[in-house]
Amino acid sequence: MADNFDDFVNELQDQIFEETKAAYGEVAFQRWLKPLYMGRIELADGYGRVTGSCGDTVEIFLRFEKGKVKQASFQTDGCGSSTVCGSFAAELALGRTPDELTDITGETILEILGGLPEEDRHCAFLAADALQESLHNFMTRGKGKHQNSQL
Ligand code: FES
Repeated sequence: MADNFDDFVNELQDQIFEETKAAYGEVAFQRWLKPLYMGRIELADGYGRVTGSCGDTVEIFLRFEKGKVKQASFQTDGCGSSTVCGSFAAELALGRTPDELTDITGETILEILGGLPEEDRHCAFLAADALQESLHNFMTRGKGKHQNSQL
């Protein structure tokens, strides 16, 4: 009985994974399984928090060293796509100067993912907006000014 139930659960999980991979692509699927750069950075130099029209929020934390992003992370209370996109927004920020950060848009994230289903494209723009908000916070508030995450 237990074996049958375990088999059932495993098959169901495999099916969900296959469907997710088919809909979102391999890159997004792998990042969804392993969302790198998730969490907050204490005493971040830049903190951005944006809530989209869907009601979900993405936060991006940045720490700079010698004029470049040394550490970046994200948090979200949103969908799987917002997790994937927040993770790539943080990854894209690493090693970049403030000027270079301004080039990162929702389209940049979508390019890495090879696109997203139409209804999830806004998640990439939400993550990019949170990154730009974090940069703006860094540029206008200065190093060492930290705001608390609300997630
Ligand atoms: Fe709201 Fe993805 S961020 S649905």
